[in-house]
Amino acid sequence: MPKETKTKTVAVALGVCLVCSVLVSSAAVSLQGKQERNKQLDRLTNILVVGGLYSRKADIAQVFQEKIRSIIIDLETGSVLPEEKFDTALNPDDFDIKKMADSPRYGLSIPAPKDIAGIKRRPRYMTVYQVIRNGALEKIILPVYGKGVWSTMYGFIALNNDLTTVEGFSFYEHGETPGLGGEVDNPAWRRSWVGKKAFDDRGKVAIEVLKGAVDPLSPEAVHQIDGLSGASLTTRGVDKLVRYWLGEHGYGPYLGKLRREGKA
Ligand SMILES: Cc1cc2nc3c(=O)[nH]c(=O)nc-3n(C[C@H](O)[C@H](O)[C@H](O)COP(=O)(O)O)c2cc1C
Repeated sequence: MPKETKTKTVAVALGVCLVCSVLVSSAAVSLQGKQERNKQLDRLTNILVVGGLYSRKADIAQVFQEKIRSIIIDLETGSVLPEEKFDTALNPDDFDIKKMADSPRYGLSIPAPKDIAGIKRRPRYMTVYQVIRNGALEKIILPVYGKGVWSTMYGFIALNNDLTTVEGFSFYEHGETPGLGGEVDNPAWRRSWVGKKAFDDRGKVAIEVLKGAVDPLSPEAVHQIDGLSGASLTTRGVDKLVRYWLGEHGYGPYLGKLRREGKA
């Protein structure tokens, strides 16, 4: 038997490290496409969930194609962007909120006093999803995002065609602590949003996520959602991001336009 030497041990260890790192990097590279596709599928699934269209047995992409109309809106004016203006990044299929927000061309800095969601930047345009039934607008699904404690939380809020009643709420990406802020994924809490009125009678944003429980006897209860216990910071983040996106710097101009056009 040849004698063990320090040099040999180090050489074998380095060799094993090298082989492993090559294997791990190749796996990461080769799985990148699959990960992207799964991420996209997860996003579509979430859109169907908040829109009340999800069924375990159905083909996600097919239901999405049949029931959802994706449009791009100019957040500042609330106008729908005509398809002739689409390009390789600015189109509903490839729209990536993070890339658009960071883009010098398609993103903008949010003035600090308006940045209640703590996101610093947002896209100038947004893809929104309309649920169409028998040719008429049934629900509208709006992407929302904002700061939690540990992460930026990305999700959707669905409004009924009265443009006020919440039909669904869900995050598809966040890094909050499981059991604390991670309870944003709790199905019971998500269900508690359904039926709440996002705006008051004058069209002002009225939805509010409380620190603590809603008093069902309060006249404001119809606008309020219970906070998550032990997770006041995440709760406040959710409250602010929803109020930001439904407000004047978010979807306010678009929703106002739909109301004026009699779509609500
Ligand atoms: C390891 C760790 C993880 C935490 N994660 C969260 C979180 O995800 N969301 C949150 O709001 N608070 C989180 N907290 C708790 C906050 O620091 C803070 O105590 C809490 O938001 C207060 O909520 P309460 O007023 O409902 O008790 C975490 C605390 C620790 C120590």
